[in-house]
Amino acid sequence: MSQHAPPADALGAGHVLRLDAVTKHYESPGGLVRALDGVSLALDGGSFTAVMGPSGSGKSTLLQCAAGLDSPSSGRVFVDGTEMSGGSEAQLTTFRRGRIGFVFQHFNLLPTLTVLQNTTLPVRLAGKRVNRAQAVETLNRVGLGDRLDHLPSQLSGGQQQRVAIARALVAGPRVVFADEPTGALDTRSAREVLALLQEAVRIDGRTLVMVTHDPVAAAHADQVLFLADGRLVGRLDRPTAVTVADTMTRLTDQVAADRRVSEGV
Ligand SMILES: Nc1ncnc2c1ncn2[C@@H]1O[C@H](COP(=O)(O)OP(=O)(O)O)[C@@H](O)[C@H]1O
Ligand SMILES: [Mg+2]
Repeated sequence: MSQHAPPADALGAGHVLRLDAVTKHYESPGGLVRALDGVSLALDGGSFTAVMGPSGSGKSTLLQCAAGLDSPSSGRVFVDGTEMSGGSEAQLTTFRRGRIGFVFQHFNLLPTLTVLQNTTLPVRLAGKRVNRAQAVETLNRVGLGDRLDHLPSQLSGGQQQRVAIARALVAGPRVVFADEPTGALDTRSAREVLALLQEAVRIDGRTLVMVTHDPVAAAHADQVLFLADGRLVGRLDRPTAVTVADTMTRLTDQVAADRRVSEGV
């Protein structure tokens, strides 16, 4: 984190999230893996962005780096004009807990904590006073106001993901990241989860970045970004399920053709 606030215009004032040439490399037995290869983007407040791409294209790495759960190998990430790197681990964690919510594919609830305790955990970890009324209100909104004392194991998958959404939203984050949040759910639960995420954008003005494989889910977003081999290779505004599916097919063919060229086949 920057110790001093840099000039706002240098950071693209108005952009709630900005990535500048972010790369992430992993050492693996087979050599260096370029999970992200120079990704730049800037998102306005109150926007809903879907991220799509083949398995292994870097979608999860992008979200982890943008959310401060992982650090880029190079490049910079700004949230609300404040750089999310350079500070200590503790500073980063405090910053992240205050401004960022994260929803995982497999919910990641703590099994021994109740619905209410799971929801307020990030607030408690941040050392802030828990506003019980606010947590209950958030759980009411996701339809779980009558399950406060249940354990995750007593809930369906869709209900567990709704707890995870309440947990992501309760501190009033600027940006919410969701990595395949409907990937483990049946169609009806998926629809409910999407509606709640969309409501967080349209009613509360949160900025949402969601990875999905589903063109119908992606069509809920304002724009879709397409990743391949760690790079942004396409973008679609005002997507529909049909235009998303068409673009995915076109890009998949294009990427395969490019690979054949680069491999000299
Ligand atoms: N911790 C890690 N160590 C080594 N390689 C990794 C690690 N995490 C991801 N990768 C590799 O980085 C690439 C991108 O992975 P990921 O971001 O999970 O893709 P996606 O979410 O699009 O499926 C893949 O080749 C993956 O194997
Ligand atoms: Mg992934």
